[in-house]
Amino acid sequence: MNHFAVILAAGKGTRMKSKLYKVLHPVAGKPMVQHVVDQLTTLGVTRQVVIVGHGAESVKEVLGTSVEYALQSEQLGTGHAVQMAEPVLGNETGSTLVVCGDTPLLTSTTLESLLQHHAETGAKVTVLTAHADDATGYGRIVRGEDGNVSKIVEHKDANEQELAITEINTGTYVFDNEMLFAALKQVKNDNVQGEYYLPDVIEIAKADGETIAAYAAPTFEETIGVNDRVALAQAETSMRKRTNEHWMRQGVTFVDPSSTYIGPDVVIGSDTVLYPGTQLLGKTTIGSECIIGPNSDIRDSEVADHAVVRQSVVTDSQIGAAAQVGPFAHLRQQAVLGANTRIGNFVEVKKSTFGEGSKSAHLSYVGDATIGKNVNLGCGSITVNYDGTNKFQTVIEDDAFIGCNVNLIAPVTVGKNALVAAGSTVTDDVPENGLAIARERQTTKPDYR
Ligand code: UD1
Ligand code: MG
Repeated sequence: MNHFAVILAAGKGTRMKSKLYKVLHPVAGKPMVQHVVDQLTTLGVTRQVVIVGHGAESVKEVLGTSVEYALQSEQLGTGHAVQMAEPVLGNETGSTLVVCGDTPLLTSTTLESLLQHHAETGAKVTVLTAHADDATGYGRIVRGEDGNVSKIVEHKDANEQELAITEINTGTYVFDNEMLFAALKQVKNDNVQGEYYLPDVIEIAKADGETIAAYAAPTFEETIGVNDRVALAQAETSMRKRTNEHWMRQGVTFVDPSSTYIGPDVVIGSDTVLYPGTQLLGKTTIGSECIIGPNSDIRDSEVADHAVVRQSVVTDSQIGAAAQVGPFAHLRQQAVLGANTRIGNFVEVKKSTFGEGSKSAHLSYVGDATIGKNVNLGCGSITVNYDGTNKFQTVIEDDAFIGCNVNLIAPVTVGKNALVAAGSTVTDDVPENGLAIARERQTTKPDYR
């Protein structure tokens, strides 16, 4: 059976009161609509059509070419939105999942169960429902005397009796593709909001004698539709709890799970300890037996086994095995640290490589540099890599020793095992085993005062 998906992402998101388009608001550092696309991809749905309207260009920029797009230039309702996918999917046979772009917690496991239920019951429509403690704002599932779903009533259109129903429409469905596009043509906008409602397809299918099924999501939490910032914060909390508990079950220690933020695409090895205030985002991988935090922010980076990162900020970088970073270090733009390296307090490393065992323990800037093995960069040593227009490379070979407060004016090379005296401003290359002293001689005047 072919499976397709339509993701609704054209609405304005008025209730967010934001310049940022609703489905692009991040949850755990990832735009909500990207969560939806990723779960559908995990499920194996290869053709996904995203309905875009408000902020179409920015949504396309985020999701890229992995999905197809259909434009809904006027937002006339969710039914109208799905209709925009007709030129793309209209002639297909199979099952079409419809998912809202504002349901970031929905899992591929639940979607898979929904599809399975749909196939088993032979229904033309299966609605993913949930039981809500507070159903305010959601469409209500109205069941007939036989217990089957007869229709969905929007909150704004519901009468008192219907408002009392706690079973809600999660906004996720699976439809027989042909039936869906045929029924959408009959949907009218004679409701309080004057919109073409997608859930009205259910009543139409029912009138045609088709089977309508419902599948209850394991928890309401998973199906939350983010319409405002209150729901956004709830989604963030739920996602954090889910992700953190997953990693705890894999053997990761969270000293304070409520203040530890792990992105959905992060991988963490067992026996790693995460201290409070740690944020691991993007495509970050942390090895086993690492110590991370407190208060560390690591994005799109790789940290090997046994490394320690304390109170530091790390972006687009790699930290080798048993390396020690921090407190208060900043690694960015492809800083690559070898095994057993040490980057200490107030050291910034940018686009530079540190060979195994090399150290820069205090107060340094290292940019555009290639540093060999067992190099020691003294306190306050600086690579002077920028002349205001261009960046230049510094090379420091194995076993070199750079004294305190040294300026290395790039391009410059310090050879293997060379020594640069403290306080030097080095403008010329230093040969292997050589010594460079580039500073004023001290003048001492005794009995001066
Ligand atoms: C919708 C459902 C409601 C369900 C709830 C679950 C309808 C009429 N109602 O209500 O039954 O309980 O979701 O969260 O479907 N969108 C478009 N184009 C439009 C309108 C909306 O693309 O013209 C998109 C929005 O960007 C959003 C999604 O559809 O991602 C849902 O729209 P939203 O306005 O959030 O609908 P709800 O009021 O939440
Ligand atoms: Mg919604």
